[in-house]
Amino acid sequence: MPLDQRIDASLARALSLVAAPEAPPRLAAALPYAIFPGGARIRPTILLSVARACGDDRPLVSDAAAAALELIHCASLAHDDLPAFDDADLRRGKPSLHRAYGEPLAVLAGDSLIVLAFQTLSAVGMIAPSRVMALITTLATRTGAAQGICAGQAWESEPQVDLRAYHRAKTGALFIAATQMGAIAAGHDAEPWEDLGTLIGEAFQVADDLKDALSPSDLAGKPMGQDAALDRPSAVRSMGVEGAQKHLKNILSGAIASIPHCPGEADLAKLVLGTARRIMDIPTAAARG
Ligand code: IPE
Ligand code: IPE
Ligand code: MG
Ligand code: MG
Repeated sequence: MPLDQRIDASLARALSLVAAPEAPPRLAAALPYAIFPGGARIRPTILLSVARACGDDRPLVSDAAAAALELIHCASLAHDDLPAFDDADLRRGKPSLHRAYGEPLAVLAGDSLIVLAFQTLSAVGMIAPSRVMALITTLATRTGAAQGICAGQAWESEPQVDLRAYHRAKTGALFIAATQMGAIAAGHDAEPWEDLGTLIGEAFQVADDLKDALSPSDLAGKPMGQDAALDRPSAVRSMGVEGAQKHLKNILSGAIASIPHCPGEADLAKLVLGTARRIMDIPTAAARG
């Protein structure tokens, strides 16, 4: 089955864990709204590609890991768009969650998706208990307050920001989770996979900053020009457009070189190269034709 179908099927299975007639109907509707249709699904795609490269001998565990990771990402987007953060009206080409359902339900849907991510992992706990324990620990670390998205978003409330630490926690964390969880789900050691996740995450964030500076909102499906408007630290702000573009190319070549030895190394290198091309494809108004 193609990876995108595997990911959406696994997300639908995860959602069925919380389908209950007694659930408040608007919260129950807000959850699928935040998940479907997806964006690029880049994190679960990387996770499943690493799992495949490592043998993928427990596909139900890697499917659950992919869904759990994407659920955390969807939750982070719901919270990120709230007025307390970026106050964004548009996400994935449609009204952001709080625009569609109101702020209280956007907060609660984000919270519910975070809880559902861990429920999704615990539901496959009996298949491979020690792998699932490690998956839960890794996902928690990369979501939480020291090295995870919570830390990343919290840097925006500090008077002094270290751009590298901010990017590593805000965006890098879930890419490190992607590579490490893919390895863990297939019974491999997580440690050698940290560098690849770090580098893909760094490249992704620099590209996101370039898009924010160069792409029009209608092509991106979300508001652009936000880093400057909200006075956020960004790679473009600290290096300029050309400096950021050069930096992006350097990081991506480092990413390919950092792939650990594994049975499916050659196929994974192709996937990383394809991902790199996608990351570097930054739509500009001129491209509209
Ligand atoms: C957007 O991530 C948020 C950042 C961390 C910059 P994506 O660009 O992966 O969003 P979707 O999932 O494709 O919509
Ligand atoms: C996105 O960060 C959300 C998280 C990583 C938590 P940004 O605010 O930079 O990304 P977009 O542009 O809204 O997708
Ligand atoms: Mg933000
Ligand atoms: Mg934002």
